[in-house]
Amino acid sequence: MNIINTNSDIIIFGGHGDLSFRKLLPALYHLFNEKYLDDLSRIIIVTRRDITHEENIKLIKSKLQEFIKDDAFSQSDFKAFQKILFIEKVDFADNSTYSNLSKTLQNSSNTNRISYLSTAPDFFADICKALDEWKLITKDSRVVLEKPIGRDLLSSQALNTEVLKYFCERQIYRIDHYLGKETVQNILALRFSNRFIMPLWDASNIDHIQITVAESVGVEGRWGYYDQYCAMRDMIQNHLMQLLCLIAMEPPCSLDADSVRDEKVKVLKSLREITTSDISTHTVRAQYKKGISEGKAVPGYLEGEGVANSKTETFAAIKVDIDNWRWNGVPFYIRSGKRMQKRNSEIVIQFKSVPHSIFKNNDASMPANKLVISLQPEESIKLSLLNKVPGLSDSMKVQEVNLELNSPLETKRKHEAYERLILDVIHDNPTLFMRLDEVEAAWKWTDSIIKAWENELSPMKSYAAGSNGPSAAVQLIAKDARAWNDE
Ligand code: BG6
Repeated sequence: MNIINTNSDIIIFGGHGDLSFRKLLPALYHLFNEKYLDDLSRIIIVTRRDITHEENIKLIKSKLQEFIKDDAFSQSDFKAFQKILFIEKVDFADNSTYSNLSKTLQNSSNTNRISYLSTAPDFFADICKALDEWKLITKDSRVVLEKPIGRDLLSSQALNTEVLKYFCERQIYRIDHYLGKETVQNILALRFSNRFIMPLWDASNIDHIQITVAESVGVEGRWGYYDQYCAMRDMIQNHLMQLLCLIAMEPPCSLDADSVRDEKVKVLKSLREITTSDISTHTVRAQYKKGISEGKAVPGYLEGEGVANSKTETFAAIKVDIDNWRWNGVPFYIRSGKRMQKRNSEIVIQFKSVPHSIFKNNDASMPANKLVISLQPEESIKLSLLNKVPGLSDSMKVQEVNLELNSPLETKRKHEAYERLILDVIHDNPTLFMRLDEVEAAWKWTDSIIKAWENELSPMKSYAAGSNGPSAAVQLIAKDARAWNDE
């Protein structure tokens, strides 16, 4: 099914939700203005609210003005964009309310039909069932599901089973927006197009790997969702697992979707299970307390809406072992938290030291090479190398210098992850989306940790908002005589 035609009907269920306003509609606005979507395409906002077409246009305009970055909103571009915006009122769980949507879709010659489920997962099954009953699923239909898919392996399986009753696996796009980030895609380019990296990428040369996704923001009003999902389900099970897979996987035979996903699944299946006896040595969970974040006093997590007695962690750090030939003995330390000191997402590949040094530095100034892939706020790849300290000194010393691999600047605006991913759905390219077995393998591994935490096998720690997380996370890596790459 490889569709080149970009005349698409994109139906956003939950089209007036936070994700739609912040990410989906801005991405579609840019795709339309850059001619990736043409004038015959339609964006159909599906909402439970009573709202007229004019009110919908006004609302979307104000949200785009609020969320489109870098002055990239223009009145004249919006004038053109608004022509492809439509609104339909549907009560997701009530089949009888789909008749107008059904007419709108059946009156269209756009075969490329994309249903984006930007709703709570509880509605996924009802929406898919209604689409099927109203005969709105064609062979060229696709459905996009937002992560997290389920709360654990069982609920994820149940949810996928429901969706698979109406769409085949090839039509299901499970989105993880981290895979659409430019630097994340660049991991594939870096690893698989540079010969010099290939022989170094294994346990004989790499000491350990760190993956950090730190956010300075808190829960941002999403208490209802976040308190049910926690750092483990919101970030680790999906975003961090995907990053780990891209770093650890074997070279796929092509960029074809299944070749890439086959290799990622192999990594997930090789993750060593964290048993109840490892839980306190390999994991740390914590909640933030009040503190100073970006210069402002902020309340602690438990002071949020309706979460006074919550046991939900806002920070998680885990030492991960991968049981395969390439990574035997190379720990991956991963961590993610809200209300951390600064927004910083990076992957650090720490190489081993040279077997014997002939230079006169003392050990402290002879750091081993490291490759730092920064995802945000800045995107960069830096390789630290050692270079001679210039001068006539008799004792030759070396110093650390950075080789920076900056991508040539894009001439235009930087593209957001959702633009890449929505375009891939339009073009029917699932390479950067999660296959069923990937999602399940990730849940299988995270489930045992979540269960042990729920059984209180590892105490909840705390950290001050605006800090680098709990001291236990520093200990997690320090007891292996290593340190996080924090300044
Ligand atoms: C989302 C999580 O998937 O990713 C949020 O649900 C989180 O809690 C967000 O804030 C982070 O995304 P980004 O692109 O800002 O790092």
